[in-house]
Amino acid sequence: MNSKLTICALAIAALSMPSFSSHAQKWEDLAKTPPMGWSSWNKFGGNINEASIKEIADAMVSSGLADCGYVYVNIDDCWHGQRDAEGNIQCSTEKFPSGMKALADYIHDKGLKFGIYSDAGCKTCAGEPGSLGHEYQDAQTYARWGVDYLKYDWCNTADQNSKGSYRLMRDALRAAGRPIVFSICEWGSSKPWEWAQEIGHLWRTTGDIGCMFDNDKVYGGNYWNPLGVLQILDKNEPLRQYAGPGHWNDPDMLEVGNGMSVNEDRAHFTLWCMMAAPLILGNDVRSMSDETKAILTNRDVIAVDQDELGVQGWRFISREGVEYWFKPLVDDQWALCVFNRNRESKKVDLDWNDLTTYDVISQRAFKPTVNAYTIKNLWTGKDEGKADKNRTVTIPGRDVLLYRLTPVDRANLKP
Ligand code: GLA
Repeated sequence: MNSKLTICALAIAALSMPSFSSHAQKWEDLAKTPPMGWSSWNKFGGNINEASIKEIADAMVSSGLADCGYVYVNIDDCWHGQRDAEGNIQCSTEKFPSGMKALADYIHDKGLKFGIYSDAGCKTCAGEPGSLGHEYQDAQTYARWGVDYLKYDWCNTADQNSKGSYRLMRDALRAAGRPIVFSICEWGSSKPWEWAQEIGHLWRTTGDIGCMFDNDKVYGGNYWNPLGVLQILDKNEPLRQYAGPGHWNDPDMLEVGNGMSVNEDRAHFTLWCMMAAPLILGNDVRSMSDETKAILTNRDVIAVDQDELGVQGWRFISREGVEYWFKPLVDDQWALCVFNRNRESKKVDLDWNDLTTYDVISQRAFKPTVNAYTIKNLWTGKDEGKADKNRTVTIPGRDVLLYRLTPVDRANLKP
């Protein structure tokens, strides 16, 4: 071989080998709007198996949830078997006798996508095998199985570096060649919002949600402390500058339909939409009440979450437990949510003078006294005229009012 050919052959060989020194990019364009789907953890914990996951996939379609955009069917912790002699991860043959590839095929045949779970440490939070030392091998296995979404947890990581550990798995997923949404789950411990934009598509900002609206109990010791909706809301709200298309703050999966009151469920769902949160259902979608289904399938409310501008909303004013939240939407529209944190109902005066605002992130102003806006009430579905005269509204305890405000003359918006 002459020297030119040798150099060429070496270059081709180098290009075709996975690169371990320089880093790959994350898979782009997978989460331009916050991911939507379902996960097994909140309702079932480790009590999962092939038959029930298939039934869930069936119900996602028959209930209309899939049509609303909930496409990921994600298996959380406790699907694992042991590694084989070569170190390949296997699923529990007791729980998943047909194997993960067959389950992924089943889910894909329904037009849905398949998600799985692992951990950056030696063991998952439930003590199953973690991916530490097997990152490239596991990523290849997931790609072979047809996985579309990986939630990657942070238990049993000793003194591992979080950014390095997540970057390693990102590179492994890229090298495996199948586009996979990468969900970072280290509970906000090392401020992933500051470093994970190039690494994952979403990152948990807090500890685990519990099915509780308000829980500020600290249990002490090593006991894992589940957070209520309000505690998570307050931790996630200040992080809005870090969220955007392809990289979202994740205030954890939904507890709608798992036991809170209908008002609380509606408020929880609405606030997650106002925060452009991933909408990962956590209830048993095979047996939803009509109220739960009405909340989860309200397309007008989902559209607030999925708005293509991709800007997380914020708490504008808070008075006596009544909060006014804004979220800028495409075409100079706005979502306005009035949230009553109190247990008792509150009568409030909506004064449009008071609700004039400017958003530094989208660099857009909302001036209802200068520009006319129409109001659609997204929970009643009714058009409610213009945002001109002040109005008095009553908001039940732990409930919300949610409006979409649309400029009447968009072409001539005055500054
Ligand atoms: C951690 C995560 C949860 C869930 C469990 C599974 O607590 O934060 O969302 O995945 O592990 O063991």
